[in-house]
Amino acid sequence: MSSSPPLPDLQKRHLVLGLTGGIACYKAAELTRELVRAGATVQVVMTEGAEHFITAATMQALSNRPVYTSQWDARPDNAMAHINLSREADAVIVAPASADFIAKLAQGRADDLLSLLCVARRIGECPLLVAPAMNREMWAHPATRRNVAQIVADGATMLGPATGDQACGEVGDGRMLEAVELRDAVIAFFQPKLLAGRSVLVTAGPTYEAIDPVRGITNLSSGKMGFAIARAAAEAGASVTLVAGPVALATPMGVTRIDVRSAREMHDAVLPLAPSRDVFVATAAVADWRPVDAATQKIKKAAGQGAPALALVENPDILATVAALPKRPYCVGFAAESHEVEAHARAKLERKNVPLIVGNLGPATFGQDHNALLLVDAGGTRALPADDKLTLARQLVAEIAQRLCANP
Ligand code: C5P
Repeated sequence: MSSSPPLPDLQKRHLVLGLTGGIACYKAAELTRELVRAGATVQVVMTEGAEHFITAATMQALSNRPVYTSQWDARPDNAMAHINLSREADAVIVAPASADFIAKLAQGRADDLLSLLCVARRIGECPLLVAPAMNREMWAHPATRRNVAQIVADGATMLGPATGDQACGEVGDGRMLEAVELRDAVIAFFQPKLLAGRSVLVTAGPTYEAIDPVRGITNLSSGKMGFAIARAAAEAGASVTLVAGPVALATPMGVTRIDVRSAREMHDAVLPLAPSRDVFVATAAVADWRPVDAATQKIKKAAGQGAPALALVENPDILATVAALPKRPYCVGFAAESHEVEAHARAKLERKNVPLIVGNLGPATFGQDHNALLLVDAGGTRALPADDKLTLARQLVAEIAQRLCANP
């Protein structure tokens, strides 16, 4: 599960959160908190069905706003809650969306406040995000399939569903996404789609080079920068594959992850994929050397024999290998330095023959949530000042997108 975003990504966003009848209403309580924590104001609207699963009082307390449940609500001066609510909103999110509610949306029916405001919203200004939650047979039913296809054709964005255990005891497609996943999906929805239609390959984390079955050589890279880049690229609309060394970080939403351990495994995972990708970002702190032969059994300490000699051999340079491919993606390398970041980054630009190197102070950023980047390319140097890694990753993705457009 990913942690709360460090910056209020939804600041100034006003969201209508619509709840329809389903047991997943309990997750809508948590979702409200997550959206509010991420900076949004949340106006909850509940159908009668939703009120059987969770109370308006709970949702009011969490959203800090009175909840709307009826189109006949007398509070608005103009008695037009459906117009007012949809005009104020930057998006309407229906979570959970029942099979019945999706059928209503598909038909454009408007016999309760939530369906009414969905039809009344200005389609071009107030997008509709739908998070289905239902039994797997209901989700698989041809009528639901038709209705989902119809609302997508009408411009709705589907968030999920997920696969897994269902409240009814069955297992399959139809679970509502978890609150933090929905929060991240909403945040991603509002990011500019600078890499739409592009494919991005990212390496992240350290590698681990075995000495014997219980010991090995690794480094302090946490993988956070690479994971943030994978997330930012996915938010920007790219299809993203993340080749990750041994780290315990959650996979960003929508990212395909391949776990590896050693530099050679990382090399073998990257090379077949690289020629078909538009962009390769080598964030991983790949071990430069590995023991010549990993012992198959634990090396035992023997009295009087001293330390065993450790013969090392160089690992393949993944970035340089990809950069030398006849059909190579746009390659971005990282330079984690302890001093003279710019000079080292510029030297690496030439040595690795890549169009962009991102310099950073390795010891200062390993394991941290913050970083500062120095973008070095043939055109000059640009500093991205200290910020959290996701913010920097989004800026880097924007810089990469700009360079892709300039050199298609
Ligand atoms: O050679 P050096 O480690 O200084 O360069 C760092 C850059 O090269 C990073 O982008 C890193 O991911 C990449 N690299 C690699 N394979 C290696 C060593 C580094 O892809 N064996």
